[in-house]
Amino acid sequence: MKRTRVYQRTLTLVLALLLSLPFTGCGGGNAEAKKEPSSEDKPLIGMSFDSFLIERWQRDRDVFVSTASELGAEVNVQIANGDANEQVSQIEYFIKKGVDAIVVIAVDCYGLSDTVQKAREAGIPVISYDRLIMNANSDLYISFDNEMVGTMMAQALVDSLPHGGKILSICGSPTDQNVSQANRGFDAVIAKSDLTVVAEEYASNWLAETAYNVVNKAIADGVVFDGVRCGNDDLASQAFLALSEHRLASTVRLVGQDADLAACQRIVEGTQLMTVYKPVEKLAKEAAEIVVRIARGEKPQTTDTIFDGVYDVPYKKLTPIMVTRDNIDEVIIDGGFHRKEQVYLNLD
Ligand code: GAL
Repeated sequence: MKRTRVYQRTLTLVLALLLSLPFTGCGGGNAEAKKEPSSEDKPLIGMSFDSFLIERWQRDRDVFVSTASELGAEVNVQIANGDANEQVSQIEYFIKKGVDAIVVIAVDCYGLSDTVQKAREAGIPVISYDRLIMNANSDLYISFDNEMVGTMMAQALVDSLPHGGKILSICGSPTDQNVSQANRGFDAVIAKSDLTVVAEEYASNWLAETAYNVVNKAIADGVVFDGVRCGNDDLASQAFLALSEHRLASTVRLVGQDADLAACQRIVEGTQLMTVYKPVEKLAKEAAEIVVRIARGEKPQTTDTIFDGVYDVPYKKLTPIMVTRDNIDEVIIDGGFHRKEQVYLNLD
């Protein structure tokens, strides 16, 4: 009797021990090995955003997450709040967690190549979302034609300013590679015109107050200018504030990008010449569809590539749209980006 009880207890103990071991598929295998994605799995995507300070990024997040979850994937969203080191930690966390894909809206496009390399060594694909991570061989760069953004801004000023007009150029963050793409397009058009850029400044971390300070300093220094080119509408809002304080808001021509609500209001009120609308819902939806396929082990199919300083990266390029008083109703309101009553809020 005693022997039986000992035997039973031993058997129970051995069974409990076996059931507590992690099952790693047939043959046990190496627990460190990357989990092979499979269509039955719920792929896990790590997504690190620069910040949500600027209006558009919350739309990008909402559409990306909802599209990915409709496709059966889970998205772990982290926000770096403009801190490049925090973004590195977030990506390293995703690598340790063994996610199936990492999506990055880079704070510093020039400071992530080592971190991306670590992800690739762990077998995790990395997607540059909207901002190209340089020298990193991302698996995909998906964005708009940012050079065209600069071209549109410059063309609008060429078409509007007087001959020999002078421009204050307030670019976005120097660590955002989109800024150099947009500058390439902008400078090429200005070089062929009779306009002159009398001052060029950059806004670190896209800090909007930079534009307020640059405009005020130019006015204080007696710089004469007819137009202000802003890297985005957030900067344009602050430039507009400074111009307003000097009663210049209705004469100096202002341009930006992102079709922020405040910029669209200024366009219908005649105090901003144009903005560049980038259908971020389209970008986020297409990105989520592609990333979920990549997370399930597919290779991205693109016709374009872009040089990231070392590698040619597959480039999914979307087309931006120039928005002025003439087409804002059709593009922005009929397109559902902002409601009519919002855009025309300050007008009877
Ligand atoms: C850039 C992007 C712009 C704008 C900016 C922040 O990377 O190309 O569309 O969103 O960030 O306002």
